[in-house]
Amino acid sequence: MKDFKEQIANILTNVIDMDIQELKSIIEIPKDEKMGDYAFPCFRFAKVFGKAPAMIAEELKEKLELSTTDIEKVETAGAYLNFTIKKEALTSEVLKEIADKNENYGKQEIGIGKNVIVEYSSPNIAKPFHIGHLRTTLIGRALYNIYKTLGYNTIGINHLGDYGTQFGKMIEGYKRWGSEYNLEENPIEELTKIYVRINQLCKENEAVLEQCRENFKKLEEGDEYCTSLWKQFRDLSLKEFYRIYDLLDIHFDSLNGEAFYSDKTDEVIDILERTGKLVESEGAKIIDLEEQKMPPCIICKSNGSTIYATRDLAAILYRARTYDFDKCLYVVAYEQNLHFKQIFEVAKLLGIPEKCQKGLEHISYGMVHLKSGKMSTREGNVIKVEELLQEAISRVRTIIEEKNPELTEEEKDDIAKKVGIGAVIYNDLAGSRIKDEIFDWDTILNFNGETGPYIQYTYVRTNSVLKKVGNIPTLSEVDIKQIMDDEAYKVSKLLYSYPEIIRNAAQKNEPSIISKFLIDLAKAYSSFYNENKIIVEDIKVQNARVYLTYITNLVLKNGAHLLGIEMPEKM
Ligand code: ARG
Repeated sequence: MKDFKEQIANILTNVIDMDIQELKSIIEIPKDEKMGDYAFPCFRFAKVFGKAPAMIAEELKEKLELSTTDIEKVETAGAYLNFTIKKEALTSEVLKEIADKNENYGKQEIGIGKNVIVEYSSPNIAKPFHIGHLRTTLIGRALYNIYKTLGYNTIGINHLGDYGTQFGKMIEGYKRWGSEYNLEENPIEELTKIYVRINQLCKENEAVLEQCRENFKKLEEGDEYCTSLWKQFRDLSLKEFYRIYDLLDIHFDSLNGEAFYSDKTDEVIDILERTGKLVESEGAKIIDLEEQKMPPCIICKSNGSTIYATRDLAAILYRARTYDFDKCLYVVAYEQNLHFKQIFEVAKLLGIPEKCQKGLEHISYGMVHLKSGKMSTREGNVIKVEELLQEAISRVRTIIEEKNPELTEEEKDDIAKKVGIGAVIYNDLAGSRIKDEIFDWDTILNFNGETGPYIQYTYVRTNSVLKKVGNIPTLSEVDIKQIMDDEAYKVSKLLYSYPEIIRNAAQKNEPSIISKFLIDLAKAYSSFYNENKIIVEDIKVQNARVYLTYITNLVLKNGAHLLGIEMPEKM
């Protein structure tokens, strides 16, 4: 596809002594459409040219040679050069490209030959899957899809929290009272009860605590009984987690969690030992990080056992060797900012390739608040993710029942699931990930707001237009002059920007860039639809409008799919 930004950079490079790619990176998309399609700010040249930016803009404008380009005109506005692309050039370009690529429009090759690990979800075994885990699951899946569509070899890892001294306690509790609890039905709830009870007993009785420690030691040594119990807890928990993953259609390439690394920490200790940086402190072995202004990273506790951080370091070593990653993204809540800063610092001592070292990145995200206050996990006031998803589905079911009673039960179920889940996903990915999220049923299910259902509703509208028309015209039957009105052009411009939007989302690891794009596209299409009759007498006009509807339909579906939102065919 023609790259209009590059055309601009190309003519700029004739008048400014700067590399094309660098110039390209300076070009912006103006917020106000009246300012043209692209803007080039001149502030940074004031020093080199020794002139006011506005004057530089003025002078550059005079020197630019547009004749070989698709640029219609260039104007100045203060310190900016504003470029307007020939509408027909842009429209015909984007139509051609989408006709050619169809569902693959947006797919790119910039990632070919590069490996990206996305680590996401990573709940703890025998503990509830809480709302924070929902966020990592959804952000992580979106990033996974975004990188994949850019051609990266993508590896999705669920780093399960399936190891640690708490399992010694779980085993002890189960040994004592296992038969009193029905682990099959609600394993996590039941296991939690056992855990609370054994903790209580440990507080009262030091000897029980000692037995728990003993169990954990046995587990570490591979004792058959302890291992089989641990495995049972893990399997039962996974079964429950998969009820959520299946609802959300979440997949992983690997479930290697903390336990997987338990026999790989010795090597980490060895390597660190050899650097001379591993020092004793109060019986523990630590890496001092004072120079980096951080508390020390504990590698080995005084009783000899390793901790969460040690297993993360073993995972870095293993992943560098196994996947030779260019990026390893950890989608984990901001509460663990310090943890990741520490282990990334210590990872520099592991002797992994520099590209792996540089590729470690914590993709932090904010908390979820209920409109009525914080979602507390303490005091039993836990929001159960599975219940939340089921509630979303059943709320949409009620709305559909009212709006479209004529649909079959099967259709209603399908719509309720896609729209209910879509609403939750969209809400989760709508704002920049680091911001806290507000959860409010009325907002997220509003069919006219900036919501998942609104995007789906717009998609369904394009669908019914296409269905009414019957067959979609071929590109050669489209006269682009018929879609030069402002509303149509706005749609074309957004469609044209889609591949770049995906690249930006990857560059910032920010799925919300896609969310925002989808809302903009849905809004732009709705204005187009409201301003123009699509099915009309004049077949020339109709063909062009139908075609624009068709490619909007493709891109809405494709973009939503990146976020994990599926489109209902009716609504
Ligand atoms: N299991 C942890 C939790 O639920 C998250 C794990 C994050 N990933 C990691 N490599 N440390 O809080």
